[in-house]
Amino acid sequence: MPNATPTALFFRNAAQLITLSGPPVPRRGAGLGELGIIPRGGLLTQGEAILRAGPTRSLEREALRLRAEAIDCRGRAIMPGFVDSHTHLIFAGSRVDDYELRLRGKTYEEIARGQGGIQSSARKVRKAGVSSLARQARKFLDQFATHGTTTVEVKSGYGLEMEQELKILHVLRSLQATTTLDLVPTLLALHALPASFRGRPRQYVDQVIKRLIPLAAGVDVAPGFSPARAAPSLGSGQALKGGATALRDHAAREKLAEFIDCFCDRGAFSVEDCRRVFDAGRRFGLVPRIHAEQLSRTGAARLGIESGAASADHLDKVSAADIHALARSSVVATLLPGANFHLGLKSYPPARKLIAAGAAVALATDFNPGTSPTLNMQFIMSLACTQMRMTPAEAIAAATINGACALRRAERVGSLEAGKQADFIVLDTEDYREIPYYFAMNHCLMTVKKGRIIYARQ
Ligand code: NIG
Ligand code: FE
Repeated sequence: MPNATPTALFFRNAAQLITLSGPPVPRRGAGLGELGIIPRGGLLTQGEAILRAGPTRSLEREALRLRAEAIDCRGRAIMPGFVDSHTHLIFAGSRVDDYELRLRGKTYEEIARGQGGIQSSARKVRKAGVSSLARQARKFLDQFATHGTTTVEVKSGYGLEMEQELKILHVLRSLQATTTLDLVPTLLALHALPASFRGRPRQYVDQVIKRLIPLAAGVDVAPGFSPARAAPSLGSGQALKGGATALRDHAAREKLAEFIDCFCDRGAFSVEDCRRVFDAGRRFGLVPRIHAEQLSRTGAARLGIESGAASADHLDKVSAADIHALARSSVVATLLPGANFHLGLKSYPPARKLIAAGAAVALATDFNPGTSPTLNMQFIMSLACTQMRMTPAEAIAAATINGACALRRAERVGSLEAGKQADFIVLDTEDYREIPYYFAMNHCLMTVKKGRIIYARQ
């Protein structure tokens, strides 16, 4: 007989219970620094959800009634699990060669124009089988959990060619079925022009609109499409039994992505190309999000606002007028200082100006092999504080509730309140400010996902 009563857990006497309680909307301005801290806090969970959050004493009786398993958190802080709203989790191998070339003086854009960059990741993905892509991603997902991240947005984008993009989305689908973390799938529809379309960007964008978007959205495409070329590249140890036919049938039925993203920048795709792709994506129910103003100012942030994007990400080169437009919009301004750090840049996105203007600022890792090979949100908080002058409190809210807003999941995750998913972490410190202060460390002692302890430091 299965146990009818879901397990109850009682986390008692936390030095700080960081609730971030409040309406499920982005925190802006002074509100970004309000963490709703309860001293000597307690958290009572039942099954996958939070039953109550409050002073420990006020929860004792109910915990007893539920026979909840008690976990003593004296000297520890508890906070929501990190919501990492921007990653490129699925890639093959690494780009350490690019890294060394940069250390010897080449720039990111110079390397991208040569043999390296996104194209070199695309070549590696093409050669990799689904099982090896999944294996590498799974290893990283374990690390995300160990470092306190409980929700991860995952973009495709290293396939470039349609069949390869679908292969990545299917790997993502298989990971969703096997990992305890919540994975939020994004079709990164325009990342770089594949070699086979050199000099024909218009045709490439047309193909993305006519074929890739409908398939990623789970809608049948026009007759005549054959993903047969996908078969050889699916590799061994197939998760997709039946090869190309299964891929087609599967793709025709399943919605593989929720969001649609474009790299709108110098050397990538134009505002016009991205607008067409977003218009098509929206027709198929995919919500836009955009890589905007990273290398140059192109008007991408404005396109994000105009397209109803959930977020505009990077924003290094935004103008004062863009900042005010973002502040007046519902677009979450997601900053990715890991990329600036790894590329060795002196300047960082203008976090203070965005916060002062009232923009909804979030933080994410941008975990990817080219510009930001870190999955540690705690280190991102250190960069946000030291390099962008955010306060530790602002960095916490940006890395949790505002990340949840960027993924349109603030009703479910990002704060510790009755009814929300029981996604939280126990820290090895009693003061949350020590997360960015003791930088490049892992302060996560325990990770709880949907009411289950999925990681506990030995
Ligand atoms: O977010 N800007 C575009 N995409 C990634 C980097 C891609 C790469 O170099 O592999 C980013 O920084
Ligand atoms: Fe990115």
